[in-house]
Amino acid sequence: MPIASFPITPVFGARVEGVSLSDITAGEFEQLYAIWQKHHVLVLRKQELTNPQFERFSAMLGELDPPPNQGAGRKSVPGHPNLYVVSNRKDGAGVPIGALGDGEAQWHTDMSYLERPPFASMLWSIELPETGGDTFFACMPAALRSMPRQLVERIERLSIKHDGTYDSGGNVRKGMTANDNPMHSTGTPHPVVIEQPETRERTLYLGRRRNAYIPGLSLEDSEALLDTIWGYATAPQVTLRHQWQLGDVVLWNNFTTMHRRDAFPADQFRTLHRSQIKGNHVPTAAVRKEAA
Ligand SMILES: [Fe+2]
Repeated sequence: MPIASFPITPVFGARVEGVSLSDITAGEFEQLYAIWQKHHVLVLRKQELTNPQFERFSAMLGELDPPPNQGAGRKSVPGHPNLYVVSNRKDGAGVPIGALGDGEAQWHTDMSYLERPPFASMLWSIELPETGGDTFFACMPAALRSMPRQLVERIERLSIKHDGTYDSGGNVRKGMTANDNPMHSTGTPHPVVIEQPETRERTLYLGRRRNAYIPGLSLEDSEALLDTIWGYATAPQVTLRHQWQLGDVVLWNNFTTMHRRDAFPADQFRTLHRSQIKGNHVPTAAVRKEAA
């Protein structure tokens, strides 16, 4: 059966049918990759997978990243150190088996505080609550295209310092010290407008809002400009909502999208396994042809 794709919104995202990730062939992978490059976020439903099969498919995209250092530390699937557990479940000793608990996770793109951030991540749903826990995505090239030219001309000369203190659940990463001064917190600067390394598409690259700072500006001016940028980046026209079903695999481009998660009831369980692909690129400023 040929692979078929169906746009999720007019802007980005595609649901893909006709491929089983458990035994995906090289030819199918090539088709899937092309669809992903165009749509940024892929949703594949009803995937019957084992952890080794999920890991095998993930590794077709590149070298896997070990789990990030979250407030809960590094949480991996037993026997699979490169698969990360996102869960509010606790083991028999009361220790969380995964990261992020049951609260909201704020808009972010994964591990942008690294010099070479991961370029792709994917989640596979294992158990789900009856309500809540939806994941939202925002399309950064579309957000950039929606901005007035004057604003784009201003921000394409600037960088953002991407804070590495807090995880997306708002917890201090293990071993880090709380610091709520954006000017002085630990982080890595990246240009605000970058090129997607493979397609060279121009895109915003924002990381996360908390503790973000634009070097060279006063804190007040940095906060005001970041709020303006984030208004475009998270506008409903450039976002989509994913309501999870069991067996979903959702793959996203980490350079061109951000994501967030809704909270869900604390007395219910939500467990997903995540893989992440190492990035080989330092985010590079995109220069407009007429400005070059
Ligand atoms: Fe994330």
